[in-house]
Amino acid sequence: MIVAPSVLSMDYSRMREQTAELNASGAEWLHFDVMDAHFVPNLTFGPDILKGFNKLTDLFKDVHLMVDDPTEVSRYFVPAGAQMITFHIEAVTAEKIPALLRYLEENGVKKGLAIKPKTPLEELKPYLHDFDMFLIMSVEPGFGGQKFDPNAEERIRTLRRWCDEEGIHPWIQVDGGINAETGKICREAGADVLVAGSYVFRNDIGKAVKSLV
Ligand code: DX5
Ligand code: ZN
Repeated sequence: MIVAPSVLSMDYSRMREQTAELNASGAEWLHFDVMDAHFVPNLTFGPDILKGFNKLTDLFKDVHLMVDDPTEVSRYFVPAGAQMITFHIEAVTAEKIPALLRYLEENGVKKGLAIKPKTPLEELKPYLHDFDMFLIMSVEPGFGGQKFDPNAEERIRTLRRWCDEEGIHPWIQVDGGINAETGKICREAGADVLVAGSYVFRNDIGKAVKSLV
């Protein structure tokens, strides 16, 4: 299991210290929740924060864009060192997707497509072959510390089955309300990447990550 701690829940007054703990924790990815105050009712950070983390860690930079215009915002985060850009299916029209995918491919950035809990899973079907990862949200995006939506389990299972039927193996990432217990549910349903914010940073970082790996 790949664990991607979300820096959304980090104590920014202790960024260096907590990043060092993450480096030693067994986590492989670092998850950046970018919010624009439009797509979600919260505002987070721009590309300079990512550049700061680049100096502190070699963990894989997984950028989750919760923004109305992922085409525009990608152009800030790709040059800043994003290694994966995940954008929301709810934020784009079908015509916008090919150009954005081309831009990510040309820059060697992995491509992720996220879906909110209430969006029909079928909306992912036309894109199964086009992405390196699918992100099943297990909370309404916008804030850390929410409760895991139990419907996510069936959505992970269904998506995994569709991918198996197509003979493809994209990563399935789950984000929201992940702890040791819900992480196990996701693992058994077929997830490969767990994002965890409050669970990691409200506990001993190393121990929390190890309970998810
Ligand atoms: C929510 C974000 C999550 C958030 C998860 O909109 O996408 O990545 O950090 O936080 P927890 O693990 O606290 O639910
Ligand atoms: Zn996220």
